[in-house]
Amino acid sequence: MLRNLLVSASRSLVPMSRQSRLVATQAAAAVQQQPKPVATVDGELVSLHLPSGEHHKLPTMWLRDNCQCPKCFNSQQMSRIIYWDELDTSVKPADVQADEEKLAVKWSDGHRSEFTLEWLKDRSFLPEDQRKWLDTTYRLPKVAWNAENYNSILKRFKYSDVVNSKEHLRGWLEAMAVYGVAIVYDTPPTEESLLELGDKVMFPRRTHYGVQFHIRDKPNTTNVAYLKEKLEMHTDLMYYEYKPGINMLHCLVQTEGAGGENLLADAYYLSEKLKVTNPEAYKALSTVPVTWADIGEDGGKTFYSLYRAPVICNDMFGEFMRINYSQPQRSSHFNATLDQIVAWYKAYDVFTKELNSPKNQVRFKTRPGEILTFDNIRLIHAREGYDDKPGNERHIIGQFLDWDEVFSRLRVLRKEAGLIKY
Ligand SMILES: [Fe+2]
Ligand SMILES: [Zn+2]
Repeated sequence: MLRNLLVSASRSLVPMSRQSRLVATQAAAAVQQQPKPVATVDGELVSLHLPSGEHHKLPTMWLRDNCQCPKCFNSQQMSRIIYWDELDTSVKPADVQADEEKLAVKWSDGHRSEFTLEWLKDRSFLPEDQRKWLDTTYRLPKVAWNAENYNSILKRFKYSDVVNSKEHLRGWLEAMAVYGVAIVYDTPPTEESLLELGDKVMFPRRTHYGVQFHIRDKPNTTNVAYLKEKLEMHTDLMYYEYKPGINMLHCLVQTEGAGGENLLADAYYLSEKLKVTNPEAYKALSTVPVTWADIGEDGGKTFYSLYRAPVICNDMFGEFMRINYSQPQRSSHFNATLDQIVAWYKAYDVFTKELNSPKNQVRFKTRPGEILTFDNIRLIHAREGYDDKPGNERHIIGQFLDWDEVFSRLRVLRKEAGLIKY
């Protein structure tokens, strides 16, 4: 600030002798008026002006609710311990004082609260600060991709690095959060490898196909995935309300013959594009509820799973949240209005043509030791048909993780790396 003052003063047209006097006077004034944090009460808000120029507004009820004193907050449990009925919701700040370190509030009922400025800044209500917290701590922002930029976004991680190093584990999970796809390579060829990887996150997600599922040619199965025929583009298990979040496909044996390739497309990219290019189709796909179904038997247990949701599911802010897509697991029960259904079929056709365009799909064949990990809430995948030969029977082991656990592990790792705070 002092330097700015000097620069602007030297640029002025004031004669030299007067100029030096003026600079000295202004500098002295700046020292004298060295700004300090100033807190005032402004109705339902506390206004906090910081020397940096930041102006924070803090709801008085939020401050009382989040008092950090030992009667109101237990720092070991990291949680609020004051019951709501112990809070006087008509309480007002009787006095507010700020210094370089903290904001102190004396309440009308005599209770006292103190908040460090660092703690308050980390919980800032300024829109840009809130966006930053959401993007660094809540969830990392997604980056959309298609066939053109897939090679530049795909990251590969060595299995032993991911299970032995927190930095590599974080790298893998960050790649999953941002791009929804990554490959782990040099995986030991055992059934335990996926379990060990899942344990590094928290624990695997069990479904009615078990903790792990073996994808190999299994005649007389009730699931189309366990056949060697082509599998069209689909998401897994969209008939679950709590749809498993990350699909991990460990290639133990890949067919040496033709076929067996995986195909992937980013439904986040497709959805964002459709929103702009065909708003009518987008509206039908994001609002008309479809019934997703899986009826069958696995491991001696029968199931009859149903879940109603649109193809494109958005959150309460209208942001892309989840994709549901499957030809075999879309029920013939369609509980929507006739107009909606007519519009939906046209929209589904538009979406499917885009989905199957080579511009939007990538195709590759995983090698033994590779785990293809992808976001089952966001990506749509497929597999080409293949042929087994004696001594070369394609064998993939699958296992799921839930995003709640992945985001949780990612935050712990980012906190440990000093990237975020509590
Ligand atoms: Fe699948
Ligand atoms: Zn308190």
